[in-house]
Amino acid sequence: MAQRQLNWSATPWDDSELLECAMVIPEDANTATFGLRAPSGAWFDYIPGQFITLELPVPGGTVQRTYTISSSPSRPVSISVTVRAQKNSVGGRWMLDHLKPGMKIKAYGPSGIFSSHKHPAKKQLFISAGSGITPMMSMTTWAWDSSEMPDIVFVHAAKRPSEIIFRERLEQLANRVPGIQLRFTVEESDAFRSWHGYRGRLSQIMLGLMAPDYLEREVFCCGPEPFMQGVRDMLNALGFDMAHYHQESFGAPVRTEADQPLIHDVKPADSVMVKVNFAKSGKIADCRETESILSVAKRSGLNIPSGCNFGLCGTCKIKKTEGDVHMVHNGGISDEEIADGFILACCSKPMGRVVLEV
Ligand code: FES
Repeated sequence: MAQRQLNWSATPWDDSELLECAMVIPEDANTATFGLRAPSGAWFDYIPGQFITLELPVPGGTVQRTYTISSSPSRPVSISVTVRAQKNSVGGRWMLDHLKPGMKIKAYGPSGIFSSHKHPAKKQLFISAGSGITPMMSMTTWAWDSSEMPDIVFVHAAKRPSEIIFRERLEQLANRVPGIQLRFTVEESDAFRSWHGYRGRLSQIMLGLMAPDYLEREVFCCGPEPFMQGVRDMLNALGFDMAHYHQESFGAPVRTEADQPLIHDVKPADSVMVKVNFAKSGKIADCRETESILSVAKRSGLNIPSGCNFGLCGTCKIKKTEGDVHMVHNGGISDEEIADGFILACCSKPMGRVVLEV
């Protein structure tokens, strides 16, 4: 067997060499970090935010799975992936149940273009949900290790506080520099544990409190597609320049610029004129797509009760019977109400002809 290198400045790892599982660190009941190293002692050359593909010998045949690297290239003697076994997971479940120190697996990469290295900026805003936190951990560790005095607002959404992966490691970093600000929001608390962070779905109001200067920040986002869609809708509606928005789906990481899927977000256009029909009152109004239903109603002499004017209080809830609106709310309406055809007039813009039961 070749002599193991002890000086990592020698040769970087390339994927012709199998990786050895060196350490397994439990993060929570269904999540673990796997430390991998090259048996030859080769070091790892990548940029923070990239991913690696593992070949996993699951029962029934080998499968390939990509995982964002959770370690930072500033600590290059090993590489780690942090894997959450979701319901029905095959690869992740196998890793949690079977991958043990000493085992060797085939790996490809590292690869990917989602990285703070690709979009250098003085101020960054990381937004993640669930295991989408892993590239953010890598980029934050890099920023810390490079001693550049980072200015990062680190926003993370989790189901409950005990499921915030890397919480303690992040708190340790944040406790030692002013430029790493942690902002966590959770859906529910853990039993018998108090929680002093944010609660509920990430909203425009919450974002404004978490990072008041978000318009000046380079945004990196990673999580399930509906979460990232919500973040994009929010930023679009707030007038954020989306040239400074970058995302990685943890479902399908992107290898090259050419592979990057085009994002076709629905955005109301000022140049498009539409008709809004208030059925009960018999009023039909012409308006631009960018005007809110509440403002069209007021202009037409109708009084729809309203409070916050920001999609929060729910006072302006009305029923839509035909057509589509683009609604970016702040929690004033439930998913069930939306499924039943209700909208909040203050934060809904008509996309084409709309009929409302008012
Ligand atoms: S006025 Fe508060 S949600 Fe519309």
